[in-house]
Amino acid sequence: MRYAIETRDLRISYGNKEVIKGVNFKIPEKIVYALMGPSGCGKSTLLRSFNRLLDLNKDAKVSGQVLIFGRNIYSDDVDVMEIRRQVGMVFQYPNPFPHLSIYENIAIGLRLNKMVQTREELDSRVKWALEKASLLEEVEDRLDDYPSSLSGGQKQRLVIARVLAMKPRILLLDEPTANVDPVGTKNIENLLFELKKEYTIVLVTHEPAQASRISDFVGFIYLGELVESGPTARIFENPQHELTDRYVRGILS
Ligand SMILES: Nc1ncnc2c1ncn2[C@@H]1O[C@H](COP(=O)(O)OP(=O)(O)O)[C@@H](O)[C@H]1O
Ligand SMILES: [Mg+2]
Repeated sequence: MRYAIETRDLRISYGNKEVIKGVNFKIPEKIVYALMGPSGCGKSTLLRSFNRLLDLNKDAKVSGQVLIFGRNIYSDDVDVMEIRRQVGMVFQYPNPFPHLSIYENIAIGLRLNKMVQTREELDSRVKWALEKASLLEEVEDRLDDYPSSLSGGQKQRLVIARVLAMKPRILLLDEPTANVDPVGTKNIENLLFELKKEYTIVLVTHEPAQASRISDFVGFIYLGELVESGPTARIFENPQHELTDRYVRGILS
């Protein structure tokens, strides 16, 4: 079987401190895979290695392999920008460009990457992305406003639209609802549920409850090691490892 993401003995250190200690993930296509674990266990580090965003941190050293649809993205002949388009990233703090309009937030990447030829194509791709992110209806009549007029949850969906406009195959989300209110969180969770029909979604969360609500598979990470992974219902109902059991019952932090 070919996986959307597979890691082989992946190790990551900052300086001489190893924070990811040889993990082997297999993430199937078109599902929500939750990476859960307490704060500081290495979730963000791991996620950033899945599209080589970690390259931007010069202290970070990676060894082992990360295969995206079967291809090792750490081999020498890889086009890193292409990988980052294919594997989009959404962060914990919604980060739309504050000085660009809602429309331009999406259009700018399309222009810079020469992904569209005409104004009509640009318009239709921007609207397509907003629609995909379940935001179009809410912003259709104010595309020229700045994102500061949006709620936290809407800003996060705008960022998701910006990523989707690049036509990725995988979406990485690092605690995307950590700074969003409960209604916004619900909207984003519903959106992820829709998006998994077409995209592979890897969601980092430190909340077991969120992982159990929306993921199909889950990997539990503790101190840089993958303790246990499998179908979400199985992990929550019948954990094989005592650490997982304590974590899902909320008595390990
Ligand atoms: N840029 C960095 N330089 C050095 N250490 C870091 C850096 N980023 C994270 N770490 C350390 O790596 C470990 C994992 O961090 P992180 O991946 O952010 O965990 P999580 O996302 O699960 O909270 C922590 O011990 C953290 O202090
Ligand atoms: Mg983190």
